[in-house]
Amino acid sequence: MYQSETSNRPSAILLLAGLTILLLLGMPILATAAETASLVGSERCLECHEQQAETYNNSLHAQAWKSIGGNYTNSGCESCHGPGSTHVDSNGKPDIINFSGKQISESSTCLSCHETSPELALWSMGAHARNDVGCAACHTIHGEVQPVANQPEVCFSCHRDIKFDSNKQSHHPIIEGKVSCNDCHNPHGALSEGQLRANSKNELCYHCHADKRGPFLWEHPPVEEDCGSCHSSHGSRHNNLLTSKVPNLCQDCHDWNRHPSTTLDSSSNFSGTASNRFIARSCLNCHGTIHGSNAPHNPDNGYNGGHYFVR
Ligand code: HEC
Ligand code: HEC
Ligand code: HEC
Ligand code: HEC
Ligand code: HEC
Ligand code: HEC
Ligand code: HEC
Ligand code: HEC
Ligand code: HEC
Ligand code: HEC
Repeated sequence: MYQSETSNRPSAILLLAGLTILLLLGMPILATAAETASLVGSERCLECHEQQAETYNNSLHAQAWKSIGGNYTNSGCESCHGPGSTHVDSNGKPDIINFSGKQISESSTCLSCHETSPELALWSMGAHARNDVGCAACHTIHGEVQPVANQPEVCFSCHRDIKFDSNKQSHHPIIEGKVSCNDCHNPHGALSEGQLRANSKNELCYHCHADKRGPFLWEHPPVEEDCGSCHSSHGSRHNNLLTSKVPNLCQDCHDWNRHPSTTLDSSSNFSGTASNRFIARSCLNCHGTIHGSNAPHNPDNGYNGGHYFVR
């Protein structure tokens, strides 16, 4: 519902609806924050908060309000900060929702307008709500034309380990701005593991790497099962986001016998030449279609067959 920036009409109706809901239903909820507070209107706020009025005035929220001919000065501030009478009467006693804790207890006013957004459908069961991370931890309202979260910086401020991974030699281009956290995760909440924007990790990967989905005549079972058995998601010290170096990676699953990858050819002991199974691209020198192959395979002369992912 909040997806289109051009559809001001429904937004405006929602804005009004939200405000009405806030007025009618929001009061008991807000009563905890401000015991007996009632609405005083934004003009009162302006008396002491000119600076915030100006930053709010530039924001999408104020503009959405104005687009329906409304005047934010008579309705805006308290839609988020809650009724302000006790705050005003006590000359600025912090008896008002201030968002400084960035907690979910402060998010109720935001939700009164936004909880119908499909993006927020699973908010209350998401990892952030459950860990008391509220809307204002990611969204800035004052001074930002669009209140969108500043990625990846805002995420990195708490998820230091992901920042660390994203700076490794091989990484998804998150810091380069080509993919965002939001492309792969719904930060508000999702049913999938890791709040991914897909039912499974593989389904997510196929969104952007469709060529890896196949179908292949000759499948490599771990690929379909879990891309994560060979790739990390955010970053890795090994090329191509691999979880370990080839041949070690392959040898986690494939036996050494029959097709060994010792440094030197086994036939030549310590005096032989370097094995082509170990140097350069190692196993990938020959097994180049590691995600699956559609090349024909002749059982009588199978050495170069697709079955072995050599073409
Ligand atoms: C009579 C002056 C006055 C009026 C009117 C007033 N405020 Fe304040 N407000 C203050 C003062 C003083 C502070 C404390 C500032 C500080 O500590 O730096 C404050 C702080 C705040 C804070 C931050 C609270 C905190 O804990 O830091 C918010 C949010 C706020 N006001 C919102 C509003 C809103 C919304 C209105 C209108 C309903 C309003 N104020 C009306 C004087 C006023
Ligand atoms: C759409 C929600 C929303 C509206 C409407 C809104 N604010 Fe805020 N306000 C916030 C949030 C969130 C913060 C926390 C800081 C931030 O995100 O910029 C905040 C912070 C503040 C603060 C304390 C922090 C500071 O900047 O010193 C004051 C004072 C304040 N608002 C006053 C106002 C006034 C006055 C209005 C009306 C002109 C208003 N706000 C309208 C959401 C809102
Ligand atoms: C009175 C209702 C109301 C309240 C309260 C409210 N919003 Fe909004 N919000 C809107 C409207 C209307 C829009 C404009 C939607 C559009 O442009 O499609 C909007 C837009 C947004 C957007 C941008 C959406 C987009 O598609 O780019 C974000 C993010 C947002 N609000 C977050 C918040 C947060 C966080 C709070 C609490 C601090 C909050 N809102 C409080 C009504 C509200
Ligand atoms: C963990 C960080 C985080 C928290 C917490 C968070 N958001 Fe968001 N939100 C985001 C990101 C990231 C986006 C996508 C921004 C973009 O489009 O790049 C977003 C987008 C939105 C949008 C636009 C969605 C759309 O339909 O396109 C709205 C509205 C919104 N948030 C409201 C909220 C409200 C209300 C809360 C609190 C109940 C909240 N958010 C809490 C990070 C967060
Ligand atoms: C204020 C701190 C904070 C910010 C900012 C923040 N997060 Fe989180 N996030 C948490 C906490 C706390 C958890 C729950 C504990 C954990 O899993 O580490 C969490 C969990 C998550 C999870 C794991 C969900 C799961 O089911 O395992 C994802 C994904 C996530 N956050 C993404 C994001 C994204 C994307 C952003 C930026 C848009 C962001 N976070 C911003 C604190 C934050
Ligand atoms: C290309 C897709 C992609 C991008 C971009 C991405 N992630 Fe992830 N993320 C994943 C996958 C896949 C998982 C693993 C989910 C699972 O197996 O539970 C994951 C897991 C997580 C987790 C869960 C705990 C952990 O450490 O594994 C957090 C927190 C997280 N991501 C945060 C972020 C943040 C913050 C960003 C942006 C800086 C981000 N992610 C960008 C795909 C992505
Ligand atoms: C939102 C789109 C998107 C999703 C989803 C996504 N990727 Fe990527 N991936 C990219 C982009 C963009 C690149 C960089 C491509 C380039 O630079 O040419 C990339 C690069 C890669 C690379 C090569 C990295 C390197 O160092 O060259 C691997 C491996 C990879 N992704 C695996 C995965 C896996 C596994 C998943 C699922 C967990 C996944 N991707 C999900 C967009 C995505
Ligand atoms: C058995 C281990 C393994 C599994 C499982 C696996 N990969 Fe890979 N992947 C590799 C190796 C090895 C490379 C490097 C290939 C090369 O250098 O020729 C690679 C490279 C890539 C690349 C970058 C180069 C290219 O071919 O585009 C992407 C993207 C990629 N994999 C995506 C995926 C996705 C998506 C999945 C799950 C559907 C997946 N991989 C599962 C081993 C694996
Ligand atoms: C997570 C475990 C796993 C990893 C890691 C892995 N494989 Fe496999 N691979 C398998 C399984 C399971 C099969 C199917 C075996 C079967 O059908 O008998 C297979 C089949 C193959 C086959 C076809 C041979 C046959 O007998 O069907 C080749 C060739 C192969 N893998 C090469 C590699 C190479 C090279 C790497 C490293 C880049 C690698 N594999 C990494 C599990 C793995
Ligand atoms: C010089 C090319 C070459 C290199 C390097 C190579 N292979 Fe192979 N591999 C083949 C060929 C050709 C076949 C099919 C005929 C055969 O069985 O020898 C094969 C077959 C296989 C098979 C299936 C049959 C079997 O022996 O179980 C697996 C598994 C395999 N290779 C894994 C690996 C791994 C792991 C590496 C790296 C340590 C590797 N290969 C390096 C060419 C190579």
